[in-house]
Amino acid sequence: MPDFLWGAATSSYQVEGGAAEDGRGPSVWDILSRRTDVVPSGDTGDVACDHYHRWPGDIALMGRIGLGAYRFSVSWSRVLPRGRGAINEKGLDFYDRLIDGLLQAKIEPWLCLYHWDLPQALDDLGGWLNRDSVGWFTDYAALLAKRYGDRVKNFATFNEPNVFTFFGYCFNLASEGFPNHPNTLLCMHHVNLGHGAAVDVLRDLVPAARIGGIHNRQPVVPEHDTQDDRAAAIAFDEHWNLAFTDPQILGAYPPGIGAAIEPYCRPGDMARICRPLDWFGLNYYDTIVARSAPWTNWGFGFGDAPADIPRTEIGWTITPDGFRQELVRVAKAYRLPIYVTENGCGSDKDIPDALGRINDQHRIDYLTLHLAAMRQAMAEGADVRGYFAWSLLDNFEWGAGYSQRFGLVHVDYATQVRTLKASAEWYAALIRAGSIDGVAASA
Ligand code: GCO
Repeated sequence: MPDFLWGAATSSYQVEGGAAEDGRGPSVWDILSRRTDVVPSGDTGDVACDHYHRWPGDIALMGRIGLGAYRFSVSWSRVLPRGRGAINEKGLDFYDRLIDGLLQAKIEPWLCLYHWDLPQALDDLGGWLNRDSVGWFTDYAALLAKRYGDRVKNFATFNEPNVFTFFGYCFNLASEGFPNHPNTLLCMHHVNLGHGAAVDVLRDLVPAARIGGIHNRQPVVPEHDTQDDRAAAIAFDEHWNLAFTDPQILGAYPPGIGAAIEPYCRPGDMARICRPLDWFGLNYYDTIVARSAPWTNWGFGFGDAPADIPRTEIGWTITPDGFRQELVRVAKAYRLPIYVTENGCGSDKDIPDALGRINDQHRIDYLTLHLAAMRQAMAEGADVRGYFAWSLLDNFEWGAGYSQRFGLVHVDYATQVRTLKASAEWYAALIRAGSIDGVAASA
């Protein structure tokens, strides 16, 4: 697989730190991380992995592993502290240095515009619920395109719009019985419009740009073989897997959403959303189990997976065939080259032994199973052209804070010392071998 791209991914709020340094403005996650109902541990991204200062050493680690690409996101509020208006040159300078360092190390920079850290100043104006967000995001995309388009070719608009939309405006309030499905649909539509507008401005300003969206995809199965749970699984699938990719690539919302979102659509919106793309970014972790949830006005919720399904060390199910299924499904539905932009597993046991080594065999086993599933999907016709492990570094895992580690590289948060785990050495050997046939065979 000589042209296959091997990479690793991170995101700005999860690794950078330097939260108030050099003029960076607050994002919603600087606020959310201080809410104990969101992050019970009290962990924040104030320092994280200090990537803001330690990026040269992190690029050296990428070189040791042999990465061909590094997927990162830009902190919107670092370059535009209030999300619009005044530009922060020191913020832009940081990504200049990072991108130049990557290119010098012959590592392709893959830039994601938005990985959940909306500037707080824009959230104060309604955030994605305000249709003005489309213009804010377009101006932000134009700024990055003008600044980095001479060196960056691969751009992603959003990371996992389903996650930040549904966990920001839907599920998290379900327990309070808030019927905020309309807010979810409104946010969904504005994010889709923002995607389309950003694609246009990136295309205009960076002629050689290769543009995609990054989507968390998960097969949805009913918890029980009942009519209600089967209906819930269909609705969950339409909202979770199709509500962004269908309009962005096929130009229409899935049937179960179309009528409900119609009130928020204006003439010409679908054409604004559906713009030509160069690749599909697919993030995969596991399969979703759905159950009927009649007390909500969207009708579905998370069910429990069978107890006999293997689980990772943090309890996520291990369902590699779901990965194969989604790769094949996405390939057939959207006919775009696919990059696996995230895949990996978390642990709360990645602890150095007496000699300082971290033997994360569980992660090697998880990656082996999933690369074998990817290989099978490719054999079934999925045009998969690259794979980014999540994550390069242990980092801030949102509500779980620093308790869950997803990195190929261990981070001692007290000292910021990085240590390649066994999985990093294994991944490096895989990249050197230039083929996953051996891995696939060992699965
Ligand atoms: C996501 C995000 C990452 C997570 C990772 C592990 O998929 O939720 O892109 O930010 O850290 O997936 O949950």
